[in-house]
Amino acid sequence: MVEDLVQRFGRLDGLVNNASTFFATAMGRISGRDWDALVGSNFKAPLFLAQAAAPYLKVTRGAVVNVSDIHGSRPLAGFAVYCAAKAGLDGLTKALAIELAPEVRVNAVAPGPVEWPEDGTFDTQTRQEIINHTLLKRTGCSADIARSVLFLLAGAPYVTGQILAVDGGRSAHL
Ligand SMILES: NC(=O)c1ccc[n+]([C@@H]2O[C@H](COP(=O)([O-])OP(=O)(O)OC[C@H]3O[C@@H](n4cnc5c(N)ncnc54)[C@H](OP(=O)(O)O)[C@@H]3O)[C@@H](O)[C@H]2O)c1
Repeated sequence: MVEDLVQRFGRLDGLVNNASTFFATAMGRISGRDWDALVGSNFKAPLFLAQAAAPYLKVTRGAVVNVSDIHGSRPLAGFAVYCAAKAGLDGLTKALAIELAPEVRVNAVAPGPVEWPEDGTFDTQTRQEIINHTLLKRTGCSADIARSVLFLLAGAPYVTGQILAVDGGRSAHL
């Protein structure tokens, strides 16, 4: 994918690892397939994409932004594999910041509640409880995340190895 992209555009300035699989994993019934899907998209792919992109990002002094989750550092009950995968991504963010310095900056955005899963994972009461637990008493929107990603990609030349929570203050008192 990275090779195709560089052939087409001639350069690479940034990598945003956003793609993710999200579903609950009940202890006692976690399968290898669950692990592969959750760890594959949330942890493994960002590493191998960053590795493939690194030589090109070094040339342009580009940046990597990983889209994590506040539950990477404060696990959500019932989602152990997803949370552990995001915790891995948080660790990877800091490790890659070291590995790719000084040419490439690596940071993460950790969203709180932004867009509810469409599969009914969170019922109305749970959604309200989560919103009540934010300091700003509302969900965020995708533009909140996009603005933060753009900031870390292009507007923060002296920031690397950081994880920015964009969560209406939910993680401040979880
Ligand atoms: N929504 C929230 O409130 C929230 C909260 C915290 C963190 N986040 C994080 O924010 C990011 C975006 O979340 P979202 O809510 O926008 O997710 P989403 O609507 O579920 O979209 C996920 C995207 O990832 C792609 N994807 C999943 N597995 C993939 C795979 N194996 N290979 C390639 N693409 C794959 C999906 O592609 P297909 O459509 O083709 O399957 C989809 O485009 C994620 O990293 C998520 O963990 C979101």
